[in-house]
Amino acid sequence: MGNANEHLLTAIDVGSAKTCALVAEITEAGVRYRSHGIADSLGSRKGAIVDLEKAVASIQRAVEEAENGISAPIERAMIGVSGGHLRGMNSMGGISFGNRPREITRDEVRQAVEKARAISLPEDREVLHLLPQEFILDGQSEIRDPLGMIGSKLEVRVHVVTAASSAVQNVVSAVNRAGVHVDDTVFEPLAAADAILQPEERELGVTLVDIGAGSTDVIAFHGGAVALTGALPVGGDHFTSDISVGLRTPMAEAERLKLAYGCAVVTRIPEGHEVEVPSVGDRPSRMIAQRTLGEILEPRARELFEVLRDNLRHAGLLEACGAGVVLTGGGARLMGVLEIAESVLRKPVRLAWPSPLAKMPSVLAEPEFSTTIGMIFYAHRARMARGNQDERWGVSKLKSLWSRVGA
Ligand SMILES: Nc1ncnc2c1ncn2[C@@H]1O[C@H](COP(=O)(O)OP(=O)(O)OP(=O)(O)O)[C@@H](O)[C@H]1O
Ligand SMILES: [Mg+2]
Repeated sequence: MGNANEHLLTAIDVGSAKTCALVAEITEAGVRYRSHGIADSLGSRKGAIVDLEKAVASIQRAVEEAENGISAPIERAMIGVSGGHLRGMNSMGGISFGNRPREITRDEVRQAVEKARAISLPEDREVLHLLPQEFILDGQSEIRDPLGMIGSKLEVRVHVVTAASSAVQNVVSAVNRAGVHVDDTVFEPLAAADAILQPEERELGVTLVDIGAGSTDVIAFHGGAVALTGALPVGGDHFTSDISVGLRTPMAEAERLKLAYGCAVVTRIPEGHEVEVPSVGDRPSRMIAQRTLGEILEPRARELFEVLRDNLRHAGLLEACGAGVVLTGGGARLMGVLEIAESVLRKPVRLAWPSPLAKMPSVLAEPEFSTTIGMIFYAHRARMARGNQDERWGVSKLKSLWSRVGA
């Protein structure tokens, strides 16, 4: 994550709609914005590269713009991984030290967590994250951090995030071909959580939902730990495509109509309002009732939250969402989405803007940049934790590592 300047962190989010490179500087006070670049994503859909050349060109454009802002080349970056190929599951691992109890060191913790990696995975999948949920020491459960405790058998419950290896590799290759080395990969909502969620929300139980263009990525926290991760193969582009098909208008016009007049609650659109819809080919444009847009968008929004509700319920997490549901991503800005989410999930729902980096321009202070900004916070915490490990370690410092891994 260091560039020519060791104090810089770079995050690259190759989204379905936009590719964003963000550079921040580590300061005494935390992280400070330095520059960014944004380009339309032309070669990636639903978290996967579909046209390598176009994806590389989009990444290059975003990176060059960000490089201009710091007058230096960007050599390394953290990248985000998202989309329908992501899966989350819970696993368990553990190690036993025989009859002699001993003090638990970082190595034992790491070994126990690594044992949880031993899940049978198809060859084409890889583990992206091992996120500890709780430790069990000699049968005593609900231990957040066993470092320094005494015991003879250490077990750990872990949430494992896996991804399709080829999908991850293709994003890495595209970024490499744009001239940037990939330091680390992160499941995007895990990073977005760093820019959005409060520790109390993670304790109480909260579900973060990033509605992008190509997919809706989900992460649920309970008791401070990650309880569920996943992705639904529906995003803002599906809403646009419904309008395009339903009104027989080009995708670009459908997108414009959605942004200007769209609302996911039919009854919030005044009766009698009409909008002009351009037709495909040479046919003349038509006037339609604005409510027609709502009639197309509302069922799609309901369906999205019904699938989310069923997934949360299946995992026993719907009722455990004490702090409710938090929406972010560009797709969450569709008018009326919040009301539909509340009516389907029957939980308090809020639309989240990312915590800003110091000196960040207001153009980035929008829900569609939560992931990119979160990646900077995440990369910063990872850097701090690594720095701490390099020093002669003490329990308090190691705790910061585990609060990071477990967050
Ligand atoms: N004001 C708005 N009203 C409705 N939809 C919006 C609005 N602003 C943005 N969107 C939608 O948000 C989507 C883009 O969101 P975002 O930038 O978060 O996607 P992405 O990160 O590129 O995609 P993904 O995360 O799926 O890879 C588009 O489908 C766009 O139509
Ligand atoms: Mg996104």
